[in-house]
Amino acid sequence: MISTPKLTSVEVRTRFLAFFKERGHAIIPSSSLVPENDPSVLFNTAGMQPIVPYLLGEKHPEGTRLADIQKCVRTVDIEEVGDSRHLTFFEMMGNWSLGDYFKKEAIEWSYDLLTNAEYGFGLDPERLYVTCFEGDENAPKDTESAAIWKDVFKNAGVHKNDKSGTERIFFLPAKNNWWSPGDNGPCGPDTEMFYDTTGLLTQGLTHEEYVKADDEGKLVEIWNDVFMEYKKKDGVVIGKLDTQNVDTGSGFERIVMMVQGVSSVYETDVFVPILEKIETLRTAKDGVEAISTETAEQSKRIIADHIRTSVMLFADGVVPSNTDQGYILRRLLRRALRHADILGMPDNSLFMVADVVTDYFKEVYTQVGKQKETIKVAISAEEKKFRKALTLGLKEFNKIVEKTVTAGKSEIETEHVFTLFESYGFPIELVTELAHEKKLTIDTEGFKAMFAEHQEKSRAGSEKKFKGGMAGDSVTETRYHTATHLLHQALREVLGTHVSQKGSNITAERLRFDFSHTAKMTDEEKKLVEEKVNGWIADDLPVAVVIMPKDEAEKTGALHFFGEKYGDNVQVYFIGDTLDHAISKEFCGGPHVGHTGELGTFSIQKEEAVSQGVRRIKAILS
Ligand code: SER
Repeated sequence: MISTPKLTSVEVRTRFLAFFKERGHAIIPSSSLVPENDPSVLFNTAGMQPIVPYLLGEKHPEGTRLADIQKCVRTVDIEEVGDSRHLTFFEMMGNWSLGDYFKKEAIEWSYDLLTNAEYGFGLDPERLYVTCFEGDENAPKDTESAAIWKDVFKNAGVHKNDKSGTERIFFLPAKNNWWSPGDNGPCGPDTEMFYDTTGLLTQGLTHEEYVKADDEGKLVEIWNDVFMEYKKKDGVVIGKLDTQNVDTGSGFERIVMMVQGVSSVYETDVFVPILEKIETLRTAKDGVEAISTETAEQSKRIIADHIRTSVMLFADGVVPSNTDQGYILRRLLRRALRHADILGMPDNSLFMVADVVTDYFKEVYTQVGKQKETIKVAISAEEKKFRKALTLGLKEFNKIVEKTVTAGKSEIETEHVFTLFESYGFPIELVTELAHEKKLTIDTEGFKAMFAEHQEKSRAGSEKKFKGGMAGDSVTETRYHTATHLLHQALREVLGTHVSQKGSNITAERLRFDFSHTAKMTDEEKKLVEEKVNGWIADDLPVAVVIMPKDEAEKTGALHFFGEKYGDNVQVYFIGDTLDHAISKEFCGGPHVGHTGELGTFSIQKEEAVSQGVRRIKAILS
């Protein structure tokens, strides 16, 4: 079995970052779970997601070698949570080369960090298997990576039983060994590292044996080195990028699981304290129906996972609601509550589980520690709300069941399901479960369609694969969009706060902005507006977004359209160091540039009347 000392998860974290720091990498902080410049996706779902613009050629302020541990949320596998490795919140360790080192260093470092017991993870090299890209019409067979691996294994003196020296290296097609974050953007062949969880496969495997072992879950992927030197457009590989980049991703919880020699992430020190807390709370309520150990274990895992994710979402500014990120958070909390009930945890005890999570993360992500109390209050409040809704909703549900049965139907009408969702806050899986108990079905697809229709923006509901950064015209349009916010603010400062946006239109060539104002602008006024905008551009102010409840957002003084229908939670884009000291704040769906310095020079081309009391400005960036 494992011959190395067991590292704690905190040590894994520290060792990963120290290793790459020593090798010239700038350690960058994790981005928020809510993507900053892309309203088309709900969450960061991969470690490399915030790095995409840099893989496409944008200069990173920290240089060409970067490493980080990125927070990610993926809820597509929510039903799998509770098995040995699926999680809705996870952390991805990654190192990047932006046109700096390439295959040799990337592979050698991955191997060294994984296997070195002194400063690395101390995993057993005899249990390591790797895959490389077998080649297709887009790119040749990656014999280069395979040769590097062969040398690495040979120099390390491992795999002596491997007669050909290649029984650890397998070539697989694009389906397995080609990585791209979406239909557009950077992509390339990858080499993936797998660890034999059984410890029994140390003799080397044939290709067929390897595929079988992988299918049977005996091998777990622990690291992926992607050689990003190609680009895709509309799903088709269209050629090479200007630089050869490296993008790697290694799942933190999985590494910890391997390092600690346990067979599930829930047995690692990342989860054990959370599960123990749940267990202590569980015994606090009597008279609960006995459930099997297996069911109890499953429920505990679901609660642990969902509360962990919820805490991290709260810390990044998400609040429960019926749309977008807020809806996912609500679903997670409500699902956790259902399982708390199954386990017989007392009412209003779930927030105590959050304590264990915040204590674990407070050193790593300071905002988690700072919001500890707020998060607890929020979880408790959501529970109260849900319990109230539950009582009312169950009455409504029983009426619906009666109607359905009286009508001789076995499927609940989608409209009713939607009412339970919208008016009573019942997550779809709760309705499904309740219906199931009554031997009725619901039309999940029909519900999804109705849900999508009701969403204010089409982006919500499901996490799409993220777009691989914006290209060409859309980058220019994004710059114009940020310039529009600056112009709006400058007009209010120069002409007065009666100025408000009446219309906006952006193309790759110019911005057009209509606003309320009665008089023709003087040359002096136009000049002042230009100076203000260019001044803010010269200050290179950061542009950021926060999601907050609508009434709170209104209190910040953020500009918005009166009479416009907004959801419970809104996105506020602000330009400046903090929301309090922002020069501009607006309710807005984005996207925007990261810094005003990216805008260039702003100049007004035309100022004219559109209608009584409404003026129009056309302006360009150059
Ligand atoms: N893009 C790769 C992945 O997400 C490596 O970061 O697995």
